[in-house]
Amino acid sequence: MYKHMTLGEFIISKQKEFKYSSGELSRLINSIRLAAKVVNHEIRKAGLVDITGDAGKVNVQGENQQKLDVLANELFKKNLVNRDIVCGIASEEEDDFVIISGKENSNKNRYVLLMDPLDGSSNIDVNVSVGTIFSIYHRVSPVGTPVTKEDFLQKGREQVAAGYVAYGTSTMLVFTTGNGVNGFTLNPAIGTFYLSHPNMKYPEIGRVYSVSEGYFTHFQEGMKRFLVYCKELAPEDNRPYTARYIGSMVADFHRNMIKGGVYIYPATAIDPNGKLRLLYECNPMAFICEQAGGKASDGFTRILDIKPSELHQRVPFYCGSKLLVEKAEEFMQKYSEEEKPTY
Ligand code: AHG
Ligand code: MN
Ligand code: MN
Repeated sequence: MYKHMTLGEFIISKQKEFKYSSGELSRLINSIRLAAKVVNHEIRKAGLVDITGDAGKVNVQGENQQKLDVLANELFKKNLVNRDIVCGIASEEEDDFVIISGKENSNKNRYVLLMDPLDGSSNIDVNVSVGTIFSIYHRVSPVGTPVTKEDFLQKGREQVAAGYVAYGTSTMLVFTTGNGVNGFTLNPAIGTFYLSHPNMKYPEIGRVYSVSEGYFTHFQEGMKRFLVYCKELAPEDNRPYTARYIGSMVADFHRNMIKGGVYIYPATAIDPNGKLRLLYECNPMAFICEQAGGKASDGFTRILDIKPSELHQRVPFYCGSKLLVEKAEEFMQKYSEEEKPTY
């Protein structure tokens, strides 16, 4: 592995490390690479063509869909379906999972893909970074039959690969197949992703916390105490910490992984399971986080050990530098144990 190798070269060089070396996973990651470039191309035109704003529709979770949510979802789906590369897709923007049929109304492909096609929708219209998140599992149903819900409701620790695309000052694709995390930056002039961030790891010490403190009044006692702790004067451990909240988890997560910090979307009195979706947002980010030496939990339980019960399930999410997540968990366990989520 050398710096500035292309993503294509990287995938070929890693193929033998994949559990099944049939080339199927490599082809799938290649298709995601292509879809990311197509979505990037569309997003970079936002403001010039009529793709910003509300799509006039509400998704199954009751959220307003933005035009770019719908467009990104369609582009990713089309790219994967056309390439006959997965047997099923589940998406934040789809009511139910999508069965992809092969020639004989079955599908011989082995992988399912779950995605948040556009993360940070509220930031599209104001020219702030957004992202795409994806998660890949090996199906549990027999190859050659249509996928079932069980293929999607697997524990996060069963993920084969996960990643995100950050459409920021530059466009980056960051992913893991369970052997560390690598980041690739798009050179837009020639449309090629290059390895720019090999073997990404959280710094030992982080001092950024990313929480929407506006909801403070609705937070549980443990969370409130953790925020007070972050703001206390304690020069020996670099407190007070610094607050950074973009409102696009991909962007907040990406910064925290590079600079050291914690991203939290906790339970609130209004949303007792928080806002983020276990399957499309928390599991993939938790997998990447752990692979980069960080920690991800719901305040009590490891995210990757939660058995999902439904596709659009939400969970509280604490994710980032190990020591900061552990500190937040300490407050949760001490002051909010009786409000611990159960699954
Ligand atoms: P999405 O755009 O896919 O619905 O997700 C947005 C998520 C996350 O990215 C972000 O950190 C959070 O929602 C922001 O929510 P608040 O505005 O409630 O803080
Ligand atoms: Mn999202
Ligand atoms: Mn989204």
